[in-house]
Amino acid sequence: MSSINKSTLIFPSETEIPPLVKIETPIHQTEYLINGVLHNWSGDKQEVFSPISVRDNQVLSPKLIGSYPLLTEKESLAALTAASEAYNHGQGKWPTMSVIDRIKHLEIFIGHMQEQKASVVNLLMWEIAKTYPDAEKEFDRTVAYIKDTIEALKDLDRSNSRFSIEEGIIGQIRRAPLGVVLCMGPYNYPLNETFTTLIPALIMGNTVIFKPPKLGVLLHQPLLTAFQKSFPPGVVNTVYGEGKTVVSPLMQSGKIDVLAFIGSSHVADILKRQHPYPHRLRCILGLEAKNPAIILSDADLDNAVKECVLGSLSYNGQRCTALKIIFAHKNIVSQFLERFTQAVNKLKIGMPWEPNVSITPLPEPNKTDYLLGLVEDSIKHGAKVVNEGGGTVNETLFSPAVLYPVNEKMKVYQEEQFGPIVPVVAFEEIEEVIDYIVKSNYGQQVSIFGNDSEVIARLIDVLVNQVCRVNINSQCQRGPDKFPFTGRKDSAEATLSVSDALRAFSIRALVATKENDVNKTIVKKILLEHYSNFLNTDFIF
Ligand code: G3H
Repeated sequence: MSSINKSTLIFPSETEIPPLVKIETPIHQTEYLINGVLHNWSGDKQEVFSPISVRDNQVLSPKLIGSYPLLTEKESLAALTAASEAYNHGQGKWPTMSVIDRIKHLEIFIGHMQEQKASVVNLLMWEIAKTYPDAEKEFDRTVAYIKDTIEALKDLDRSNSRFSIEEGIIGQIRRAPLGVVLCMGPYNYPLNETFTTLIPALIMGNTVIFKPPKLGVLLHQPLLTAFQKSFPPGVVNTVYGEGKTVVSPLMQSGKIDVLAFIGSSHVADILKRQHPYPHRLRCILGLEAKNPAIILSDADLDNAVKECVLGSLSYNGQRCTALKIIFAHKNIVSQFLERFTQAVNKLKIGMPWEPNVSITPLPEPNKTDYLLGLVEDSIKHGAKVVNEGGGTVNETLFSPAVLYPVNEKMKVYQEEQFGPIVPVVAFEEIEEVIDYIVKSNYGQQVSIFGNDSEVIARLIDVLVNQVCRVNINSQCQRGPDKFPFTGRKDSAEATLSVSDALRAFSIRALVATKENDVNKTIVKKILLEHYSNFLNTDFIF
């Protein structure tokens, strides 16, 4: 049974915070970017407290790390006007710019962004308690994503720079932007997942309004000047504040052409319904998941344990791709649990900057209460916390709890816990697991652990029609970013990968003409004189 352990020593005193990560004075952000201008906000602000408490004698207090503007409907609509005017019904400077020139703006942005790495990484640690290596990885992965996006667009442009002739009609088919994009990322990857929609949206010629997630706001502040310096006015605009105040008016205006949202399906549904012309709204959504791991009786348990620990508990299990339930065959479940709990108990709990730390404070308010509730509900229905000390709460820290035997009566059997709880179910026949996956509301990924190619192959053929990625002897994950990332049912809408995202944020548009001398002469002159940014055969090197 979980207990409350008020050991405060795990949290630092001010003097124990390493100088390199220390926030000497809180960051009180007043700026917001609209129409290329960094405005100064003097209205209401939201204070930002870190999930990392600081100890003074034996008293822990949440550390105030800054504040950000709570904008109103007025500023939000000003951002919309700026984005709409910059797009100007597809006639603006940005949507009509040549691909190579848009790429140049992105390259300038990368340079400015890289100058801010240290500040962004530090704020990732303080705002959402991501470990230093993971925070650094999130930053570097995002920069790599932008560079890969540029290369993917060059490739796309190269293959689109030729003409096709079909049934006496000459055509050139390219991809054109869609309009104004609203980008909203999640708190667990506030930089990366916001940018994996924002960057492809921009590079395809759309204009953007972006709202950072509720947690993980300040880390975007060092990048505001980078956006301002790199893009024409109105191409990138930011809004901050309560969703109801700043997001609803945007959706209700009917002027958002694309909603790129990573978060819960509940919120996604509300936003979609607010749009007066749903047929005009394209949605690119990354939502919840409950990815299962299936440990077959012949699995290499050392590997299964290693991958399941990573898969279920990296960043405290706060990944949409995390393994959120483990089905282990009844013949090996005891062995698996013994090794798995040993490995879980070796995970170091501490502050995000500590070397080799794995489990860090949870940023969501009242998250430990929610997780304790799940544990208690499971215990009520017959499960136990099978690892020593599992489910212990210390302020915002929750030590990983391995629950066994989990059954369908427990909330954690269906609910996405998004935290350090690992439910384990024993199965006898594989049909029991398939039935769970078929009935699940989610359909993102699955991991199969086993050795028999024939058995694995039969499972693959069933599971690829249930989820969108089947991992063999490996944890579930989004990367490599060139692979498609999507899901079925309540898990996603549209596909993201470096190249798929370019398609998601654009539409095919073509120029066509009947093949006769007059038309050929007109087209040739347009090409020779470089009259058009769209109709051209330039090859981007
Ligand atoms: O939260 C969902 C992320 O897209 C997961 O990405 O699998 O690379 O951690 P990851």
